[in-house]
Order: sequence, then C-alpha cells, then structure tokens
Amino acid sequence: MTSRIRVGIAGTGSYLPERVVPNVWFEKFLDTSDEWIVQRTGIRERRFAADDQACSDLALEAAKRALEAAELAPEDIDLIVVGTLTPDHLLPSTACLIQKALGAKNAGAFDVNAACTGFLTALHTGEAFVAAGRARRVLAIGAEVLSRFIDLEDRTSCILFGDAAGAAVLAPLDEVRRGEILETSLGSDGEGFELIHMVAGGSRVPATHETIERREHKIRVHGREIFRFAVARMGSMIEDYVARYGAEEIGLIVPHQVNRRIIDAALDRIGMTDEKVVVNIQHYANTSAATVPVAFDEAVRSGRIEKGKLVIFVAFGAGLTWGSTLIRW
Ligand code: ACO
Repeated sequence: MTSRIRVGIAGTGSYLPERVVPNVWFEKFLDTSDEWIVQRTGIRERRFAADDQACSDLALEAAKRALEAAELAPEDIDLIVVGTLTPDHLLPSTACLIQKALGAKNAGAFDVNAACTGFLTALHTGEAFVAAGRARRVLAIGAEVLSRFIDLEDRTSCILFGDAAGAAVLAPLDEVRRGEILETSLGSDGEGFELIHMVAGGSRVPATHETIERREHKIRVHGREIFRFAVARMGSMIEDYVARYGAEEIGLIVPHQVNRRIIDAALDRIGMTDEKVVVNIQHYANTSAATVPVAFDEAVRSGRIEKGKLVIFVAFGAGLTWGSTLIRW
C-alpha cells in the first residue's frame, strides 16, 4: 500500500457580484417585510449576478484570486472540481468552462452536484486526488447563481438566496506548509430529496411549455422540515470534533450560511460561543455551495484564524446531503 500524501490549502479566493439587493426590494411585489426577513433569517441583503454573468463567470474570478494567493499559474493546476447546483449549462460542465477561461491546459475538469454541500464535496474529492498522488494541485470551487432559479412569487423561499463564488487551491502539505486537511466526511439521505427540489428540467420531467407555466424550474423549499434537520445535523457534526479535540483547540467554525437562527441554535446545543464562528449571512444570504468558501476566504484574508488552531467546515443541503471538514491552520 502506498502511503497517503498529506494535503494543505495553498490559497483561497472569493467573488461577490456587485448588485446589492436589500430586503426592501422584495416588499415591492411580495407580502413580506424587511423586519420579518431579518428576524426569521438574519438576512439583510444579498448579491445578484448581473444579467450577463453566469456561474462560471463568478467562479472564474474566485479561482483567479485563489491562484494568486497560492502563487500558482493556471498551468500548475491538474484538476478543477466545481460544486454547483446552478451550472451555466446542463452540458458541458461548468468546470470545463472555467478550465478554458483560465487557460488551465493541464487540468482535468468536472462538476459535482451536492447542492449546499457542493464545495465540501469538491474539496473532499480534490483532497482524495492529492492524497492518493493522482493530482498535485487541485482547484476546488463552490459557485452559484441562484437568482436565476428562485420563484419571485414564493415569499417562503425567494428571500433566502444570493449569488457568489469561492475557491481553494489544494496541494501537498510539504509544498504549502499550512492548512492541513485532517478529516473529511460526507453523508446523504435521499429519502429527503423532495424537501429542497426543482421538479422539472431533468430527464424525469423534461422542460415543456407546461412545466414552465407551472413554474417547475424554480427551487421549492420545505423550510420548517429543513430547519429541524439542519440544527440537529450541524450541531452533531461540530459536537463530534469538539468532543474528540477539545473546545480550546477549535480556532474557527465556518458553517453553511443558511439561517442565522439555525447557526445560533446549533451552537447553543453544544454550548459554543459565537466569537469562534464566521457569520456573513446578513450580507450575502444563502449562496448554497459558495457560502463556506466565501466565509473561509474572508476569515483567511482578515487574519481571523490563529496559526496552529483547528478550523471546522460544516454544510448540509438538498439531497439531502451533509459534510464536514477539519483543518489544522
Ligand atoms: N415574509 C413574511 N411572512 C412569511 C415569509 C416572508 N418572506 N415567508 C413565510 N412567511 C409566513 C408563513 O407563511 C407563515 O405564516 P402562517 O403562520 O400564517 O402560516 C409564517 O411566516 C411562519 O412561517 P414558518 O415557515 O414557520 O417560518 P420559519 O420561522 O420556519 O422561517 C424559514 C421560515 C426562514 C424558511 C426557515 O424555516 C428556514 O430558514 N428554513 C431553512 C432554510 C432552508 O430550508 N433553506 C433551503 C436552502 S437549501 C439549504 O441550504 C439546506
């Protein structure tokens, strides 16, 4: 058996589109209010991509910033993995469009669809490739343009989402000397597939005039059921690391930004205080696969992570899917 190569994080990057959409924008056409949205979700505003921006455009900017931070050129990358539920096209993959735009001529490229767990799935895939010696430098990306898939007639879901992209470059630890990925885990429960769902547009219900009229190409969310699942799952994933490594070892928790109340309830459950937790949902809302890499990049760039401490990523999403990552910074 060959020994496992230890994997570190060489650089991170993120990109937020310029258009800021405050809660009051929804008041113009929906029976909702800024007060309700802030109280129930913690969201104050989100970013929406410009009309000419698709998922790969946002991802490209985040990827360029991550490469710059890693001091690597596009030709140095040998694999690009993109977690997204809002690809530019069903075919080909968004990863291939990024490969072309970057000029990453030595890279393989593919997408993974694990919804809000998409970045963690891309990261874990990349980590496995580097650890096995099958790739040396991997670009893992989480990117979404959810604004194209929200139903602006559905107040229970459209206020929740925003657009963004985040990226990380993985490489052998002996090359980067920081951010060792110590543990990764992924889980799923397909029994919950209808809880967050887009009915039409795939091979089960192909697009027709009728599916468009029935608005079946939009995201449907059973928020109450997800709320309960999310608090329990997020809490137990963090609790497991805290129990095994000790609360004082934890430097930072980077949770999926789904609802401020979900994050608070999960932390309450395990008695963690929020100074160790990254929360930016007030500015960006839920950007699905992009929440964790954007929040992580902001924490890295603001110097918020103490060297040698542990960083925890936790995410969950449609599928249902969930995952966690433990990193020694
Ligand atoms: N404005 C005003 N009122 C609203 C709105 C709105 N935007 N949305 C719902 N309401 C009303 C409801 O109709 C309901 O009214 P009723 O009591 O007369 O029936 C009332 O507010 C309470 O609704 P609840 O659904 O009980 O509100 P809750 O406190 O659960 O908050 C929310 C709803 C924000 C969706 C919450 O359940 C949540 O965050 N869930 C998880 C989020 C989620 O599922 N995200 C999916 C993304 S995928 C992923 O990241 C996992």
